[in-house]
Parts: sequence; structure tokens; C-alpha cells
Amino acid sequence: MLVPLSIALIGQKFMGRAHSNAWRQVARFFDVPFEPILHTVAGRDARELEAFAERWGWARATCDWQEIALDESIALVDIGTPNHVHAEQAIAMLEAGKHVACEKPLAGTLSDARAMRDAAKRAKKAKTFVWFNYRRCPAVALAQRLVAEGRIGRLYHVRAHYLQEWGAPSTPFSWRYSKKVAGSGAHGDLNAHIVDMARFVSGDEIAEIHGAVAPTFVKERVDAGTKKKAKCDVDDAVLFLASFVGGAVASFEASRLAAGHQNDNFLELNGSKGSLRFSFEDMNLLHFLDATGDARTAGWTRIMCTKGGAHPYAANWWPDAHVLGYEHGFTNMAADILRVLGKQAPEAPLPDFEDAYQTQRVLEAALVSARERCAIKLSEVK
Ligand SMILES: NC(=O)c1ccc[n+]([C@@H]2O[C@H](COP(=O)([O-])OP(=O)(O)OC[C@H]3O[C@@H](n4cnc5c(N)ncnc54)[C@H](O)[C@@H]3O)[C@@H](O)[C@H]2O)c1
Repeated sequence: MLVPLSIALIGQKFMGRAHSNAWRQVARFFDVPFEPILHTVAGRDARELEAFAERWGWARATCDWQEIALDESIALVDIGTPNHVHAEQAIAMLEAGKHVACEKPLAGTLSDARAMRDAAKRAKKAKTFVWFNYRRCPAVALAQRLVAEGRIGRLYHVRAHYLQEWGAPSTPFSWRYSKKVAGSGAHGDLNAHIVDMARFVSGDEIAEIHGAVAPTFVKERVDAGTKKKAKCDVDDAVLFLASFVGGAVASFEASRLAAGHQNDNFLELNGSKGSLRFSFEDMNLLHFLDATGDARTAGWTRIMCTKGGAHPYAANWWPDAHVLGYEHGFTNMAADILRVLGKQAPEAPLPDFEDAYQTQRVLEAALVSARERCAIKLSEVK
């Protein structure tokens, strides 16, 4: 018999669905120390929320998320709300002694992120997690292991981009275009992921941002509800150059206006002994180049990361090359969260609030670099 662990979820749309699915699936596919109990879901629209709770099997629904803090039977609170409320909700739950799994970016602003990091430090018994789900694609987790084993040698370059195309002028206004709510645009949405992935896979920290641009191409959009024009005050794209403490150089590129790129999350690392390349739209594959062998046969190896026993998480899913999709990253993360709460080792390291705060510092440094048109050392960003 598994030990029950009651979970509450705040936010019931895109991430609400992805997380609900993960909590429902995890104990079927993984031998985890707890059985998640879908205790309460909180959101804002009572009618939508009731339907959501029924569809996904949440026992209770409430439009008052603060009730969750008062309920002693809830152990873990999962936050899938827009970025400006992460801090208030996460800090309230940590102060109530609950574990918190929060969506990325950690917050819309560096000061909110810092307050969350500090609250996590104060809440000694509570654990924190941030849903940087792409770490949990088997190919990305494998890349991290290969780099740690020294398979690409000394790291020279990191090239990362996360490009999407849904931000055309005809796209209606939403919270994602409001600085007050989102903090930033493509930057916090997309660069957050690739900065986390680059830090995770390289095992190194970014030391300096050398320059950045952060344009807003579309300055107003029609709000689908009010039919009025609303001001868009976040970036549509952010590109920046950086260097790591270990000396490697890096480029990061995020855009919502890259026509032809739907969910093009890409990371490449080049080192003295070889290279690694991951592209989410082919998420089951990792490409590895061994530069140490016979030059006549050197070339990229296409690794299908689905072999149980050889590849992270693969043993819990399907036979070889019975491929995984977007939702599996969330279920893999749910498994690792439950393992950590049960004092077991995760399959791949999990980011906590301290770790996500380091990513937020990089994001902040890039925005300051774009605004001030100068290089920014990370040591200047507290
Ligand atoms: N990990 C990923 O790949 C990924 C992908 C998409 C979004 N996200 C992140 O997830 C979070 C949510 O994004 P989304 O796409 O699910 O947004 P969404 O707009 O689809 O859903 C937001 C939900 O939050 C609820 N909500 C809004 N304000 C609230 C409040 N004050 N109190 C309680 N509930 C509130 C809304 O009712 C809605 O259910 C964001 O931080 C976003 O950056 C992460």
C-alpha cells in the first residue's frame, strides 16, 4: 500500500491540465513512495473549475486559494498560475508548512523571486520545486550525464534557442502580453527554459551577459473579451550573448514571432572532445558527436533515448522507440518530486527555488543589458 499524499493545484488551464495528468499517471508508471491524492483545485471561474475538477478527478474545487493554506491535510501545493501571483501564493503555502511545486519562471520579477527564495530558506521542513520540465526529457537528462562524465571535454560553446510563432499581430491580448502580470514576454516564457537547460546540462553558471536586445514588435492587441485595444509592454523576442564561469561562450535566443517555428526548443554544446545537440520537436533524440575517434568515420550519432536501463526514465515507459511526448516530461518530474519527498534520489536533479532564482538572475541581467546597452556581470545582480 502506497502512502497517500494530498495535493492541491492552483490554476486550471494549460499547466493545470499538464500537471493534473502527471499526478494521475505517476504512480501507475513509477514505483514512487507516495500515491498522490488530488485533494483540491483552485482557480477563478467557478463554473470552469467544477467541470475541470470532475474531468480530472480533483475531489474539491474552490475559488479561494487561501483556503488551501488552512487545510492541514494538504502536503504539497502545485502552482500553475500567471507569474505575478507565484510569490504571494508560494510564500503563503511555505509559511503554512507545505511543500511547493511552482511553475516557471519562478516569478515575474527578480524581487518576487528573491522573496520566494528567502521564504523557502525560512521554511526549513518544506521542499520547493520548479517545473522546468524540459530537464526531464530523457535526451536532456542523458546530455547532462554525458557532460558530467566528461564525454564532450572542455566546454567551448553553448547555443540555445527557443522559438515560437504564435505572437502575430492578430493574436488577441492575454496576460502573457502584460508586464504587470507576466514580468516579461518571450524572455521569461522561453529563455527561462533554455537558461535552465544550459545551466543544468553544462553544470556551469553564467558569469556575464555581454549584450542583449529585447524588442516589442507588436505594441497593442485586441482584447478578445472587451474588444478594445490593450497595450503590450513585454518583449516579443530577447536575444543575448553570455559567458560561463568556466569560460564557455553562449548565445540565447527567444521569440514568439519566428514564423515556421512552433515549439523549437534547441540546445547545442560544443566541447574539446565532442558535441551534443537536442531539439524538442524531435524530443526522443539526442545527437552526439565524438570528436576523439577515427576522423574517417567521425560524425553525428543519432541516439533514440528510449532504451530502458540505458536512458533516464525510459524503463518506466514503453519498449524501445515507442516514443514519449510532451506530457511525459511532467510525469517524470512528478515522479522525481515524490521520490525527493520520500527521501529517495531523483532520476535527474530537480531545480528548487534557490536554483530557479539563479536562472531568474540571468534573465534579469539580460533585460538590464538590453535596457542599458552594456555588459552586465552576474555578480552585480543580487
Ligand atoms: N513548464 C512549461 O513548459 C510551461 C508552459 C506554459 C506555461 N507555463 C507557466 O505556467 C504558469 C501558468 O501558465 P498557463 O499557460 O497555464 O496559463 P493559463 O492562462 O492557461 O492558466 C492560468 C490559470 O491560473 C488561474 N489564475 C489566474 N490568476 C489567478 C489567481 N490570482 N488566483 C488563482 N488562480 C488564478 C486562471 O484561472 C487559470 O486557470 C505560468 O507561470 C507560465 O509561465 C509553463
